[in-house]
Amino acid sequence: MSLTNRSLVTIDDLSDGEMEALFSLADEMADYPKNQTELCHGKIMASLFFEPSTRTRLSFEAGMLRLGGRVITTVDIGASSLAKGETIADMAKVVGSYADIIVIRHPWEGAARVVADYAGIPVINAGDGSHEHPTQTLCDLYTIRKQRRTIRNLRIALWGDLKHGRTVHSLIYALARFDATILFCPGPGLEMPEHVLRRLSSEYKGELKKCRNLNQELNSKLFPIDAVYLTPSSPHQLAMLPDINVGVELKAGVDALYVTRLQKERQAPTVGVQELKKGYPVVDKKLLKAKEFKKTLVMHPLPRVDELTHEMDADPRSMYFKQAAYGMPVRMALLALLLGAKEPTIPEEKDSFIRKTDYPVYHRDSGITCPNTNCVSNQETEVRYIKPEFKIVSRQPLTLRCIYCDHELHPQYVASSEWHQRKLENKKYHSADSHFAKKIKPENLIVFASKDEAKAQQFRPSSYVRQ
Ligand code: NCD
Repeated sequence: MSLTNRSLVTIDDLSDGEMEALFSLADEMADYPKNQTELCHGKIMASLFFEPSTRTRLSFEAGMLRLGGRVITTVDIGASSLAKGETIADMAKVVGSYADIIVIRHPWEGAARVVADYAGIPVINAGDGSHEHPTQTLCDLYTIRKQRRTIRNLRIALWGDLKHGRTVHSLIYALARFDATILFCPGPGLEMPEHVLRRLSSEYKGELKKCRNLNQELNSKLFPIDAVYLTPSSPHQLAMLPDINVGVELKAGVDALYVTRLQKERQAPTVGVQELKKGYPVVDKKLLKAKEFKKTLVMHPLPRVDELTHEMDADPRSMYFKQAAYGMPVRMALLALLLGAKEPTIPEEKDSFIRKTDYPVYHRDSGITCPNTNCVSNQETEVRYIKPEFKIVSRQPLTLRCIYCDHELHPQYVASSEWHQRKLENKKYHSADSHFAKKIKPENLIVFASKDEAKAQQFRPSSYVRQ
């Protein structure tokens, strides 16, 4: 399938084969960076960075220039019409009429999706709040591929702020697709969000093992493992093993340790950043002395603050500056593909692992909103043009996933739009976990945030409502 005119909003917008094709093209770009100057001649990239950036913005811009294209840019919300109250959608339509491709970074989760919906040209998500950062994942995987010659069956430890770090969120889904064993090593209170973990086990069908009660000694000897995720193709199913065997897992060595900084700008105002800093785990030479890390690649999306000591820079295992350098060929390849300047040769897709992504979509106005206050659907409030929209990812328990930010909600009350002869007295609502509720077809489903919301819409409780 061609990548021309497509957008990259989440890492799931690329199939495994498309990622591999992109990496092959990135090799070409890395080997001959100066030979690509005609590829995007005459094309314009709009680079809209409404949050700080060094690597992502400059590697996109340098990449576009090396492809022979041009760049228009804005780096400050205050200097754009968003500051005057313009909606993201209006901005997207306007920029879409000036440029051939948009690269956007924005503090709101789901903002890149809205831009992609309205721009009419390909859009690349360069980071949307804590949600995703798919091009960083491409750089990360490309780095591992360069060092290890494969991105399959890896053992990776994700370290630091797993709650707010968008790079780890995109990376984790990609790793799961490539059959990784993932060790979670968060700072205290910065664990991987529940919705991400649920998605790992429901969609990628792996085994997730929480390690909170794991042998303390084992934890302190190595590092603070909070959970382990194993993809189904792994030879053993962790859930069947006693806890201590996580140690056995580790003895086999870790391919990469992916360190992230404390995302202090994304903490809730009630959270004490100083406290978080005190408990934040640090990666240094001492930690990496253990034989499990002898061949471990030390990775970091950068910028680092103090979670990764500078003494590591001279260590041959340290990959972070290479990771940043690979940003340019990887992003050049991506731009060339989305702009149709190159057609990829996509390797045959493995069908051994099929994810369920064709969920029915829920988009009624029945009072439910995304639970994530930083979601674009809750932020663009002055003009309510973004209707909350959700994928119905499970009926038991009823689970709706926001199409913008992936946060989930579990509504307690439901009704069917197929009430008899549309008579008001037949408008009944039910408990979402009742036997009757499960029979409602997705296209007829109405969900309510509360009993009051159901009442406000003139529904009365059925006998299937728990008191
Ligand atoms: C990351 C980001 O912006 O999410 N930086 C990057 O793009 N390389 C990581 C971070 O800011 O911590």
